[in-house]
Amino acid sequence: MGWTMEQYVIRGGFPLVGEVEISGAKNAALPIISAAIMTDETVTLENLPDVNDVNVLLDSIAGIGAYVERVDRHTVKINGSTIRDCSVEYEYIKKIRASYYLLGALLGKYNNASVPLPGGCNIGSRPIDQHLKGFRAIGVDIDIRHGIIEASCSMMKGSHIFMDLVSVGATINIMMAASRAFGKTTIENAAKEPHVVDVANFLNSMGANIKGAGTDVIRITGVPAFHGCTYSIVPDMIEAGTFMMAAAATRGDVIIKNVIPKHLEAISAKLTEIGCQIEESESDDSVRVMATKRLAKTHVKTQPYPGFPTDMQPQMSVVLALSQGTSIVTESIFENRFKYVDELARMGASIKVEGNTAIIDGIDTFTGARISSPDLRAGAALVIAGLQAEGFTIVDDIVYILRGYEDFDGKLRSLGAEIRRVSSEKEIEKFELEVG
Ligand code: UD1
Repeated sequence: MGWTMEQYVIRGGFPLVGEVEISGAKNAALPIISAAIMTDETVTLENLPDVNDVNVLLDSIAGIGAYVERVDRHTVKINGSTIRDCSVEYEYIKKIRASYYLLGALLGKYNNASVPLPGGCNIGSRPIDQHLKGFRAIGVDIDIRHGIIEASCSMMKGSHIFMDLVSVGATINIMMAASRAFGKTTIENAAKEPHVVDVANFLNSMGANIKGAGTDVIRITGVPAFHGCTYSIVPDMIEAGTFMMAAAATRGDVIIKNVIPKHLEAISAKLTEIGCQIEESESDDSVRVMATKRLAKTHVKTQPYPGFPTDMQPQMSVVLALSQGTSIVTESIFENRFKYVDELARMGASIKVEGNTAIIDGIDTFTGARISSPDLRAGAALVIAGLQAEGFTIVDDIVYILRGYEDFDGKLRSLGAEIRRVSSEKEIEKFELEVG
């Protein structure tokens, strides 16, 4: 195996205080890297987060022949003129579902793509019927054989597509392919997430003609070719939101920099409602979160943007597990997103899950325990719990967290947290001796 079992070991009980810088958005970077191969000219991407999913996707485009040059930790040059193969290996798809964006990108450029069908994942079944429905609507023939999606056409033609449900992935995938189709495409009931807008802005800087991204109707006029450009990825609203929750849970005072406060409104509103003080500064792109007293209960329901994001649900639930009274959290996007609750119970939380609803009775404090990270966002939520908890917490399976958070432990340490990334029992003991 090429990877080691790693843990975070944390001594909790301290408020987080200070300033932290947010990286570029993973969920914008993945489709943008895929789309960058749609021109034969060089594309320079800046503000890329240095996280495992991004690095695996860069390997995967290099795997089909693209030229990939790391300029520095957050900058990469990509040139798609050397691509010799439109079939993506299962090895990559297995590691990151989002390599299905190569379907839209390769179709847009070559009218032809072969990508393994992604399996389910830890947060529930994740069908891609809406992606395929959109491709078919613009004239693509799709065959699923031996677990592989074979997509091809002689020419894509613009069309009118009404999405049956709001899907970030399907909206982006269809937008990429349709931007090179002949004629006009309209996507109705489109996803409005900031990363949908970021991908549209990127495609437009390569010469696409996309209007309305950020609303629920996106209008695309196909163009025959794209050209190179330099583009900087939007800040990661989920990473920012995660630090906001960490500040709230530890009753800290944190200034979160390099964010777009507007993207954080649903999160800020909930934190304000339960008693945090939030100061936004559009001018210096930052949000300050202060929690000076015990927070209060509330109800939260996850929704597509601009509603409360499903990717913030576990972190919010950790904050509510410490808040006065009974809170109710409803997960309406994914079916299996409460798996961290059993881990949190080991730290003392009192949470009952019924179907897609969690009923949370707030407690005063968590107590440290050995717990395991079930998926990316839940893993981050458990780290937040560990930062608040009395004593030591060990979070296993942090490989999920490393998929999407750049230098998570380093950024937390800069806010005063006692956390270390380790890979053996010996190192855990050493940490406990050193800080204990
Ligand atoms: C993206 C994000 C993920 C986030 C999610 C919702 C990336 C890489 N991932 O995932 O972090 O949690 O948006 O904000 O950007 N659905 C279908 N058929 C489809 C597509 C989706 O039924 O063809 C359903 C899904 O099962 C889910 C809902 O639609 O219930 C929303 O999924 P979608 O917005 O597509 O999520 P992803 O793009 O996979």
